[in-house]
Amino acid sequence: MIIVISISTAFVAALFGIALGSPVARSVSAIKCPITIDGRVPTNFTLPMFDTTASPFSPQYSKGQNLTWSQIIKLPDVNVSKFDIPGDKAIEVTINDQSIFLPGGGKQQLGFRRAGLLMGNGSDATNVGVKTFHWSVQQDSSMKMNLTHEYMNVWHERNDYNGNQFSFNTGIMLAQDKPTDTNVSTTGLDKNLWKILNNKNDVIWTTYIVWDNWQNFAVTVDYVNNTLQIWYSVGSGPLQAVTEPLANDNSGGGQFQIGIAKKPTETITVVYDGYQESNLHEGQIYGGIFIEDSIGGCIST
Ligand SMILES: *[C@@H]1O[C@H](CO)[C@@H](O)[C@H](O)[C@H]1NC(C)=O
Ligand SMILES: *[C@@H]1O[C@H](CO)[C@@H](O)[C@H](O)[C@H]1NC(C)=O
Ligand SMILES: *[C@@H]1O[C@H](CO)[C@@H](O)[C@H](O)[C@H]1NC(C)=O
Ligand SMILES: *[C@@H]1O[C@H](CO)[C@@H](O)[C@H](O)[C@H]1NC(C)=O
Ligand SMILES: *[C@@H]1O[C@H](CO)[C@@H](O)[C@H](O)[C@H]1NC(C)=O
Ligand SMILES: *[C@@H]1O[C@H](CO)[C@@H](O)[C@H](O)[C@H]1NC(C)=O
Ligand SMILES: *[C@@H]1O[C@H](CO)[C@@H](O)[C@H](O)[C@H]1NC(C)=O
Repeated sequence: MIIVISISTAFVAALFGIALGSPVARSVSAIKCPITIDGRVPTNFTLPMFDTTASPFSPQYSKGQNLTWSQIIKLPDVNVSKFDIPGDKAIEVTINDQSIFLPGGGKQQLGFRRAGLLMGNGSDATNVGVKTFHWSVQQDSSMKMNLTHEYMNVWHERNDYNGNQFSFNTGIMLAQDKPTDTNVSTTGLDKNLWKILNNKNDVIWTTYIVWDNWQNFAVTVDYVNNTLQIWYSVGSGPLQAVTEPLANDNSGGGQFQIGIAKKPTETITVVYDGYQESNLHEGQIYGGIFIEDSIGGCIST
């Protein structure tokens, strides 16, 4: 019966000249698990929409006090990342001298230059069960990071703002963020490495920045068993597990933030003081941002 149906489908396709080959297969999404919160940006999405509630991200946080997201985000002319196929596109998050965040009820964070797209509200479904946080990143050769500084570009920040369940950093790590494990000293970490840190700021995995292609990352956060597992690929390659599930304290709830937080040099508090050069123009190109339900081991690769 099944054979008969498939022959007749192929026959009808042939009759009407419908292509059943690879062009069709290439336009199918690689996402296989239910999406809990979607940060993919549709091809027809316009910049002013990032300032409205139509945005997949908070229109309000966390950005320079006097900047709007439509000023901060660019739509770069690059190939789409693997999880943006077939209907979504890349965005670029930028920082400049005005990227100084003023938190509600706080004071200006003069140490940082910061623009972070915020997803979820800290007490949503991405904070229970088992969830995989996906992002892809590409470098803009005309708006490169200065790796003399430490950057935190993607993180899952605890609701009490006193730490992260995980973060994705690069550059020269500040002594204040010194990993507490004995295997990787601050000075032993090449500034050109992406570093994934656990909730204790220990570096649990690294890979070099690729300057001319997409790098695809995912972190599976198991809130039931308190573990993290990291997945990685380059270009259109399938994600591979690059760590085992590693013990991590995933408690405290939190929000996923994607962008750039450039830390100062010569700093004491990191947040409020230190050195940042003037005339900054830096960006990170992102794509394939989504959080999926990985209960039962489902992972889109
Ligand atoms: C983008 O395309 C989708 C699907 O065709 C449509 O529903 C949506 O309204 C469009 N959005 C804009 C801003 O044009
Ligand atoms: C897109 O990919 C094609 C094929 O790999 C490549 O020739 C082209 O330069 C890429 N375009 C951009 C803007 O990256
Ligand atoms: C934003 O504008 C206000 C009013 O002009 C000014 O006081 C404040 O310093 C500006 N903030 C930044 C980060 O430039
Ligand atoms: C957070 O978002 C979830 C899902 O949209 C909603 O059910 C919940 O009430 C929200 N919580 C708060 C504190 O806004
Ligand atoms: C990188 O940052 C350091 C410290 O802020 C600064 O001294 C240096 O001039 C910067 N390098 C470039 C190439 O911008
Ligand atoms: C440090 O290295 C040892 C030996 O390779 C390993 O058993 C241990 O798990 C590592 N510790 C951390 C925190 O990565
Ligand atoms: C937690 O770990 C137990 C024991 O390894 C396993 O049977 C169970 O499936 C895990 N549950 C989740 C939600 O990961």
